[in-house]
Amino acid sequence: MRELNIGPASEFDDPGRKIIAFDGVEVGVFKLGDAFTAYFNHCPHMGGPACQGKIIAKVDEAIAPDRTSKGMIFSKTQTNMVCPWHGYEFDIRTGVHPGNARMRLRPVKVHLSTDGDVIVTLPDARERPAA
Ligand code: FES
Repeated sequence: MRELNIGPASEFDDPGRKIIAFDGVEVGVFKLGDAFTAYFNHCPHMGGPACQGKIIAKVDEAIAPDRTSKGMIFSKTQTNMVCPWHGYEFDIRTGVHPGNARMRLRPVKVHLSTDGDVIVTLPDARERPAA
């Protein structure tokens, strides 16, 4: 394992992200509210740079009690990143695709230091996804 200090948490927008490249891998580090999450920038679909895509609210369909559609609405509780290659979406808080829980980004440990810096912990090379 190797810890990297990527700078002050205050430099992140909300929602926001930084992509870091280190030792042959890229990691997307995200801030959403008070939480930080990080994932290898490697889409489980075909290996695209999922962490570099748009950050948008999840789109839900509003269903009336009579089961008719009331149109599409933006979620107030879930924010996704959209892989730029084919549009698969992943929940920023979990890395999971909203329609297929087995489709998920590989997480990377991230925490804040006592002085407010964002610290990413990269696993050993053999535990990283293939490039
Ligand atoms: S590679 Fe990410 S959606 Fe296909």
